Amino acid sequence: MTKRFSHVGFILAAAGSAVGLGNVWKFPYMTGANGGGAFVLVYIFAILFVGVSIFLAEVTIGRMGRGDSVSSFRDLATKHKGLWKYAGFISFTPLLIVSFYAVVMGWLIKYVVVSFGSLPENAKAAGSMFGALVSGSVGEQILYFTIAFFAVFYIVSHGIIKGIEKANVILMPLLFIILVGLMIYAMQLDGFSKAVGFLFVPDFSKLQPSSLLAALGQAFFTLSLGVGTIMTYASSLPENNNLFRSSLMVAFLDTIIALIAGIMIFSFTFHFGIDPSGGPGLIFQTMPTLFGKLGLTGHIISTLFFIALVFAGVTSAISMIEPATSYMENYLNFTRKKALYVIGAFVYIVGVLALCSNIKDFNPYLSVASMGFFDILDFITSSILMPIGGLLITIFVGYVMDKDKLKELFVPFMGERIFSIWMVFLRYFIPVIILVIMLNKLFFD
Ligand code: TRP
Repeated sequence: MTKRFSHVGFILAAAGSAVGLGNVWKFPYMTGANGGGAFVLVYIFAILFVGVSIFLAEVTIGRMGRGDSVSSFRDLATKHKGLWKYAGFISFTPLLIVSFYAVVMGWLIKYVVVSFGSLPENAKAAGSMFGALVSGSVGEQILYFTIAFFAVFYIVSHGIIKGIEKANVILMPLLFIILVGLMIYAMQLDGFSKAVGFLFVPDFSKLQPSSLLAALGQAFFTLSLGVGTIMTYASSLPENNNLFRSSLMVAFLDTIIALIAGIMIFSFTFHFGIDPSGGPGLIFQTMPTLFGKLGLTGHIISTLFFIALVFAGVTSAISMIEPATSYMENYLNFTRKKALYVIGAFVYIVGVLALCSNIKDFNPYLSVASMGFFDILDFITSSILMPIGGLLITIFVGYVMDKDKLKELFVPFMGERIFSIWMVFLRYFIPVIILVIMLNKLFFD
């Protein structure tokens, strides 16, 4: 990539990547499935102490390497360049993510269509509607997945800088306004105080070893970390950008949006007596139940809500394809078109398999140890590949890069003190945390 983002452009692109289905779809159902407050607390700690530091580390590698992730690791390593370049292959992880992510985007597009037709009458009908789509309708899901797929690849094929800057300027504020509006509406319901209690009063007896790893994985997922996405975007940062401030802003925005979405969704979840631990269908059951009760207004808000979510998903999905594309273009000298054909074919096949694994009739053929392929993709990426990617990035910036150059880049923005704290985090604290949480889950779950 030779073009550069503007200062705002980078923040918008990074925030566009970070804010997505992870905030509005995944965070609420993970919180519900992991028992609420204690999970949220661990999640917030993971963002503050692990996420932000790794975000900065990833920005650093991108900004100083100025290339694809493989070249950047190789060029910036002070020793073992030939080995470190392989760390750049973390850029292929997001191709696995986008495969199931686009399936969910397909569900959202379907719900945009549903918003024009008849919305469910109650929570039970909403639950059956979602169930029928996900575990019954192969053809319909393939159709909507294909639409999502082409939308994403079309934008990436046109180069991301302009497209993303434009799309984000309008759609991110729209999503934000809708979420805040719905939250204000939710404040008048009895479900609101229950939701706040559920999210912010921790009950540590509900915290399993798997919840710790899930919270860490969600912190990575929501900030798009550990897979070369932020690195690739940062390689197009303008020269004198305040990296520290930009990174903090993105992390802050992302967290606020997840929390607002959580409060809003759980208010309605409790209001309608829906099971909060029901899994990936949570927003698809809760929100249409609400919209179905609001008459014409319901149809309008429903349409806007799902459209805004589709777009939040698009800006995230684009950012999952860009790292591998950038590697193939720069390192392997593919044309952008050829790179996208190869990547597209892969993503399409994996996506269709993921979608089919949720279908009742196919599930037995597409599962391992009673976990379907869709869930396997989600688990392997969030709970294994992203933390390992994060570990590599941390160790690389903490131990392998030239410390004086790091200092030169960062001290003007964060000062000596914060710089030293950041280094201590990267060198000692974060690697230990990631390893302990991963091993803990492996041996005690
Ligand atoms: N952060 C996005 C979300 O919350 C998802 C995402 C975008 C992502 N790019 C990524 C996740 C790269 C992992 C890796 O929806």
